[in-house]
Amino acid sequence: MLLDEVDHVAIAVRDLDAAVSWYTETFGAEVSHRERIESDGVEEALIAVADSYVQLLTPTRPDSTVAKFLETKGEGIHHVGYRVKDCATALEAAVASGARAIDSHPRPGSRGTTVAFLHPKTAFGTLIELVQE
Ligand code: CO
Repeated sequence: MLLDEVDHVAIAVRDLDAAVSWYTETFGAEVSHRERIESDGVEEALIAVADSYVQLLTPTRPDSTVAKFLETKGEGIHHVGYRVKDCATALEAAVASGARAIDSHPRPGSRGTTVAFLHPKTAFGTLIELVQE
């Protein structure tokens, strides 16, 4: 089994502050990490739930893939991140099994992680992120 744990569930939102406030007021949640990832054109707020996170995600520019997602699908679950021991190994194994990769090689993610995305087309409609801490 290449997947160790659910790292995060990412939710695309239009207003990050409003979404954070909602989680805070509704569940007493606290933001454990907030980061702007310029290369992806997104800003995230991570809310820890046990050893996993809810990742609230909003676009910072109109050409961001999250902006396009919001346009076509509206707010909601954007992707699931799975924690793996070795991103390159997991990516290679998935591709060898027929999964379509968005990233041909692992790349830097937020929090200093190494990540790679698998296309929803071959994953039953779910965008999957492989996350190595
Ligand atoms: Co993610």
